[in-house]
Amino acid sequence: MASALLSRQLALSLQQNLRLAAPGYRYISKTATKTLEEFEYDGPSMKTEVPGPRSKALTKQLGEIQNVGAVHFFCNYEESRGNYLVDVDGNRMLDLYTQISSIPIGYNHPALMKVMSNPNNLSAFVNRPALGILPPENFPDKLVESLLSVAPSGMTRVQTMACGSCSNENAYKAMFIWYRNKERGHNIPSQEEISSCMVNQVPGCPDLSILSFMGGFHGRTMGCLATTHSKAIHKLDVPSFDWPIAPFPKLRYPLEEFARENAQEEARCLEEVEDLIVKWRQKGRPVAGIVIEPIQAEGGDNHASPDFFRNLRNIARKHGCAFHVDEVQTGGGATGKFWAHEHWGMDDPADIVSFSKKLLTGGYYHKNELTADKPYRIFNTWMGDPSKNIFLAEVLNVIKRERLLDEVTRTGKALLQGLYELQACRSGLPTAQYPHLLSAARGKGTFCAIDVCDDSTRNNLINKARDKGIIIGGCGDKSIRFRPALVFKEYHVHLFLNMFNDILAEYK
Ligand SMILES: Cc1ncc(COP(=O)(O)O)c(C=O)c1O
Repeated sequence: MASALLSRQLALSLQQNLRLAAPGYRYISKTATKTLEEFEYDGPSMKTEVPGPRSKALTKQLGEIQNVGAVHFFCNYEESRGNYLVDVDGNRMLDLYTQISSIPIGYNHPALMKVMSNPNNLSAFVNRPALGILPPENFPDKLVESLLSVAPSGMTRVQTMACGSCSNENAYKAMFIWYRNKERGHNIPSQEEISSCMVNQVPGCPDLSILSFMGGFHGRTMGCLATTHSKAIHKLDVPSFDWPIAPFPKLRYPLEEFARENAQEEARCLEEVEDLIVKWRQKGRPVAGIVIEPIQAEGGDNHASPDFFRNLRNIARKHGCAFHVDEVQTGGGATGKFWAHEHWGMDDPADIVSFSKKLLTGGYYHKNELTADKPYRIFNTWMGDPSKNIFLAEVLNVIKRERLLDEVTRTGKALLQGLYELQACRSGLPTAQYPHLLSAARGKGTFCAIDVCDDSTRNNLINKARDKGIIIGGCGDKSIRFRPALVFKEYHVHLFLNMFNDILAEYK
């Protein structure tokens, strides 16, 4: 099956560039059918509702061992290909959510299968090292080939980690260490600092803070959680820090049509940021760092303008705070640039940029001065996984070879245009299709979202779409987010829009 699929050409007839007018309407291709070089299926194929009987049985079985409240269904990863995720009941779904945005080039990509079968790589898969103390010979070269080849502007250092949360958690520690050394004027702690830190007291455990934004998500570990403000369920019952939380701009979409109002809203938030920095300094809990996502993802796909980020970066500089850009969800190409912060057009965009998900390994890039000054301060057993760097190097080759960032930009335009047409919010577009259901379509590249009238309709739509063979995700109070892989093409967009249009028609 797998080998048959490897040589299979995608024969889906593709369709573009016409308007959605009625549920039965179809995008029609004006150009010749394109052939996808990699293997893939030719569309969704559904045998049962999702979860089907096999998924339900397995959920029950796993429920004896773990909490399974969040499990959607069980997967057959062997049979999944490209943009299609196959479940254990034989349902094949077009995946626009990709394991919470973490599959860079689709399932079972042949280039990655090849890496896996290369005997030279076997040792890296079999022997997972404690990288901080016993790295393999090729580790520096592999870092140069993979992570450093896409380092953000102004950064030549990277610290690998395992997941998004542990990347951010350690990045926060790096900012605190940097800040204290700056305050001391040197990096030699006093005896009092050494003894007081052992019992969680000042001055060894100083009263410092990190400023974050309402609606932000930076992970669920203790430090990260203090900067996460997207859903109460993540935070409930967990002690936290008294750290400042600034408002994130609440913008109107499409951004270009509300430029003036949006600029005012951004100015309001920036003013609040400066007020909070001053207030927390006066409280004796100075802000060592500011952490922000280029697009608030879990919190509802909230955007802000390049100007907002440029100004925020300057505020951080002015007040001596480190500026940490969390690209765990936005990094890796989905916005049409490898890093979302590249859209800001800055030579010096950040002091720290954290990543995970599409990069396959977690970690963070940082300025030289944020390098930990002593061993074991930023440390854990694995500190990443070198086998993931090998995969990442190949993912980056595929991105370059297939010009996937250009593709994402093109595909993203088609997706956003389709979403605009479904909500018909823009002048010059046909009459609104589903104005009672949809609003605020927004996005960069394929990193797109749209609001649904309320939370329960949103959830219902997501479930209905899944039963028809489309996987999409929720975020924020009532948004649907789209997080396809970088190999999601225009014809996948058209397939999705046609199917989604039919689903929406049931709500007319
Ligand atoms: C922006 C951002 N930061 C951090 C995290 C945490 O990453 P992880 O779930 O790998 O710990 C996420 C996860 O969704 C995220 O979107």
